[in-house]
This record gives sequence, C-alpha cells and structure tokens, in this order.
Amino acid sequence: MSHPLAGTPLCRLEDIPDGEGRGFVIGEGAGEVALFVVRDGAEAFAYLNVCPHLGTPLDWGGFDAAGSFVSTDSGNILCATHGAEFRIGDGYCLAGPCRGECLQAVRLGREPDGLLRFRGMAPGPPKPGG
Ligand code: FES
Repeated sequence: MSHPLAGTPLCRLEDIPDGEGRGFVIGEGAGEVALFVVRDGAEAFAYLNVCPHLGTPLDWGGFDAAGSFVSTDSGNILCATHGAEFRIGDGYCLAGPCRGECLQAVRLGREPDGLLRFRGMAPGPPKPGG
C-alpha cells in the first residue's frame, strides 16, 4: 500500500551540498512526516528525523541549516542531543547510546532532472533475535 504522501516533492539532489543534509516536514497534523536527506556524491539517503535513542530530532543549529545533520569531523550523521553517529548509507548507529540500532529509512524517488520525491517508509531493519 502506498503512503498517503508518496510523490511529495522535496528538492533537487544538487540543492544539497555534497556530504550535507537537509530537513523537511511534509504533510500536516497526525499525518506529518519529518525527514532528512543526506547527499553522498551522486546518491541521496533519507531517514525519519527521529533518533532511535529518545525519539528527538537529530539536527542542530536550526532546522534546515546546511550541514546540520552530518558531522564535519567524522562524516557520519550526528544526533545533536547525545552525539550518536549513524552511517550515511544505511542509518546504522556506529557509536553513542543507541549503538547497534538504526534510523528509520525513507524511500526516495528521483526524477530525470534530479528532483527527489518522498515515496514512503523503507522496510525496517531486522529485529535482533526476530
Ligand atoms: S537522542 Fe539522539 S543520541 Fe540521544
């Protein structure tokens, strides 16, 4: 079943500086979705803007601030609250209080002109022991 917001335009890949992220809030009310997109060269990865540790947004320095999702030191996604670090490519937590957990991945579509569109939630990571 497709997500009710599937197809919502976000931005063009080129609008995000390489190695940085940008936050978005789409939809309204109970259907609102807060997410962010990180660019890694010609690729884009998207996750819900929800840290698996305490459920807070990850970004710092003001929402939608350029570079506010990626550590300039490590190049990993960095949570502003307690410093958890996540791999850009799969959202896996490499260090911090939720080490071993994963960000919820978001599926993206990309138009020929580079426009990125929200497509819905990606399947969750496998549960330990399940
Ligand atoms: S809320 Fe993200 S590391 Fe604690």
